This record gives sequence, structure tokens and C-alpha cells, in this order.
Amino acid sequence: MELSSAGFHVLHILALLQVQVAAWPVEESPHLPLVRKITDVLHRIRVNTCAAHNLRVFISTDYEHLDEKEATLVRCVLDYSLSREELPVVLASQLSPELSVRVRLQLLFVQSPAQAIAACSALEIKGMYLIVWLTSQPEVSVQRSGMSQIFAHFLHRLYNLNVLLLLAHMERSTLQPFAFLPYTAGSCANTEPVELPQREWRLREMFPYRLSNMHGCPLSVIVWPIAPYMNLHWEQPRGVDQVDGLDGLLLRIMASRMNFTIQLLPNEPPELVGGSSYLNGTMTGAYRMLLDRRANLTLSSAVTGTIDDLPPVLQFVGFNEACQPAAAWQTVDKSFQLNYNPKPLLDLLENRLWRTCIYKVKHELGIPSQTEVVHRQELSNVEALYYREEHIKCHNKIFDLCKLEFCVSSY
Ligand SMILES: *[C@@H]1O[C@H](CO)[C@@H](O)[C@H](O)[C@H]1NC(C)=O
Ligand SMILES: *[C@@H]1O[C@H](CO)[C@@H](O)[C@H](O)[C@H]1NC(C)=O
Ligand SMILES: *[C@@H]1O[C@H](CO)[C@@H](O)[C@H](O)[C@H]1NC(C)=O
Repeated sequence: MELSSAGFHVLHILALLQVQVAAWPVEESPHLPLVRKITDVLHRIRVNTCAAHNLRVFISTDYEHLDEKEATLVRCVLDYSLSREELPVVLASQLSPELSVRVRLQLLFVQSPAQAIAACSALEIKGMYLIVWLTSQPEVSVQRSGMSQIFAHFLHRLYNLNVLLLLAHMERSTLQPFAFLPYTAGSCANTEPVELPQREWRLREMFPYRLSNMHGCPLSVIVWPIAPYMNLHWEQPRGVDQVDGLDGLLLRIMASRMNFTIQLLPNEPPELVGGSSYLNGTMTGAYRMLLDRRANLTLSSAVTGTIDDLPPVLQFVGFNEACQPAAAWQTVDKSFQLNYNPKPLLDLLENRLWRTCIYKVKHELGIPSQTEVVHRQELSNVEALYYREEHIKCHNKIFDLCKLEFCVSSY
């Protein structure tokens, strides 16, 4: 009995080994150490960040354009990684719009900065990015300028700082994590790569807050006069003194909390309130300037209007599929305006506005956790008597009032 059970275990272990061997087609390959290193980092990220924060991961399978040995390496990493743990993973070459709102971390394997930039532009989502750059480039300076290109794309085009780059050297079998610190005491909008120490890769180790102190770096803000929200005093020398009104004050608070310098830009033309974004792609005013990256932000009452103005706004924030085809939008619109049924509209908007729920962004706001302390007071006999009598007095008074009311209304 004992013996056959032991025999079964041996078989079982052999079967497991068989699976392991099958999952390691590069068993004899010189890339095995690198596969192990990448797999190890991915494992930490999965446990300490993805599982800990319930983040869905999108893994781009669009790595077939990689060269043969790089593609094989990626296949090995994925075979091994995916067989280890259960986690919500979307494995595809393209991310569908329905899924994109649920996915929070994108994992990409690339062989050049150009591939990284093309892949991130195609994804068009704000989320967090983990880019594994498989390179054979021997020159450190070339590697650094390549990484800087990727980071510049994230900062200036995507306005996204949540990117971690793993530089995987195919020949040296090294794996180095890099990020960038755009705003420091010495520099503004810096995209130089900064090597990070090996970590446990918890969420804030991967993507630390980098905007809580912008060290006085300038942000250009498009403004136009509109009382009582924005009053402008162009004659003042400092940006912070040039604005007041409700939104002006808000801007000053932001600048002081985040420690940036306000650089005001007039709208084009200067008196235009906000701007327009048409379905044909034409944009004017502040929208146009932001799109052309001629300014960094705008605020003040611009988005006012009716449901008919929603499609261009949704399109501007990158939610094209909400308004296409036009007939689909008409259905949603009519159901709301003619049949007073808001559900289709809410279902549609929920997909894009879900991050406005406070619990979804709470961890980013840095609000200290709240505690509730209840102290119960023990009353002495005399105090207890006093409060009991007060209670009875109150009680009787209410009854008297009610009786009076009752008498008056009965007569
Ligand atoms: C901010 O706007 C300026 C133009 O005023 C632009 O040169 C700069 O790149 C923008 N900053 C970022 C982070 O995109
Ligand atoms: C804001 O940035 C300036 C310029 O780097 C610096 O001197 C100052 O100490 C910063 N303020 C805070 C509160 O960190
Ligand atoms: C786009 O539509 C707007 C408003 O209908 C119009 O003023 C503008 O000329 C159009 N642009 C193009 C390129 O057709």
C-alpha cells in the first residue's frame, strides 16, 4: 500500500518535470538566465502590484515582428509566467475598447524605441505601462538616448508618467529597470533615464508619485476672461497674481500645492470661451492649442452645453467608439431626450467616467485614513436622575403640544 502510494508520487513528480521541460524550449539556450530574470520580475509585479490591487493586465502578443531569438524568448517568458498563477490577463495583439476601460497595466515587449512608441500610441489608453526592451545594443549612450526617446513620448505626447522600462540585454543577460524623474530641484521636463534599484515591485515602487512637488517648473495654462470664474490682470508680473475669480483661485491653490509656476497664455482668439471640437475632427481655441501641445492645461468654464454637445467632448477625450456609428449615438440620445430613459446613456458613460468614483482614485489622493473613536460616558446617579427628568419633561411637552394641535383641529 505504502509502496504503491510512493510510486504514484514519483510518477506525479516525473509528470510535472515533463511539463516543466516542455515549457522551457530554451533549456539549452544561452538566453535562459535572461528568461529567468524577466520571469522573476514579472512574478513579483504580479503578486505585489497586480494581485494586491486587483489590476487587470493586458499583454500584447504583437511581438511576432520581433526577430527570431527575441520572439522565442518572449514566448518562453509568457509560457512560464502564465502557467504559474491565475490573474485576470488579456492576451491579444490589440485591445478592444470594451476591455480597455478595465485593463490597468499594459505589458509590451519591444526591440527598439520606435516599436515602443508605435505600440503605446496604438493602445491609446492612459493606464500604466511596463515595457520590456530586448536589446543587443552594446553602447550605453545609445541605450540611454533610446530610453529617453520613449520617456519623452510618454511625457509630451501621452501626458503619462506611469511607465517602467526593463532593459533586457540579450548578450549580457542583464535586466535593468529604468524610469524618469521629470521634475526635480535641478531640472524641468527631464526625460533622462534613471536606473532604479531592484525592488519587490509594489505599485508605488513601480510608479511613484512624481507630481507632488514640481520644484517650481512652469506649466502653461490657457485662460480667457469669464466672470466670476476667471478674472485676468495681465499687467501683473507674476502668473500667480494675474488670475483671480473662482477658477483663478483654484489654479493658484493647485500651483501652490504642486509647486509649479503658472505661465498664462491667452486663448486664441483671446476672448473665446473655451473652444469647439467638431465631429469632423476640426478643433478651435483651447482644444486646438492643447492638442497641438502648445500649452499644458486649461481650466475655467468651457464645457457647458446640452447632451448634443457630448459626442465631440467624448471624442476629444479619446472615446470615439461612444459616438460611432452615428445611428448608435442617436439611439442613446433619443432614448434619453424623447423617452426619458437615461439608462443607455449612463451605461455608455459609465465605461469612460468610472474613474470618477472616489473609491477608484482614493489611493492616489493621499487622504489620510480615518478612524472613529467613541467614548461612552458613565453617568453618576445624580446625573442620570437629572437627564431622566429632562427627558420626561421633554416627552410631556411634546405630548401637550400634540394634544393642543389635536383639540384645535377637532373643533
Ligand atoms: C508644456 O507646454 C509647453 C508649451 O507651452 C511645451 O513646450 C511643453 O512640452 C509642455 N510640457 C509637457 C510636459 O508636455
Ligand atoms: C518649490 O520649488 C522651489 C524651486 O525648486 C524650491 O526652492 C522650494 O523649496 C519648493 N517648495 C517646496 C514646498 O518644496
Ligand atoms: C468641421 O465642422 C465645422 C462645423 O460644422 C466647420 O466649421 C468646419 O469648417 C469643418 N471642417 C472641415 C475641415 O470640414
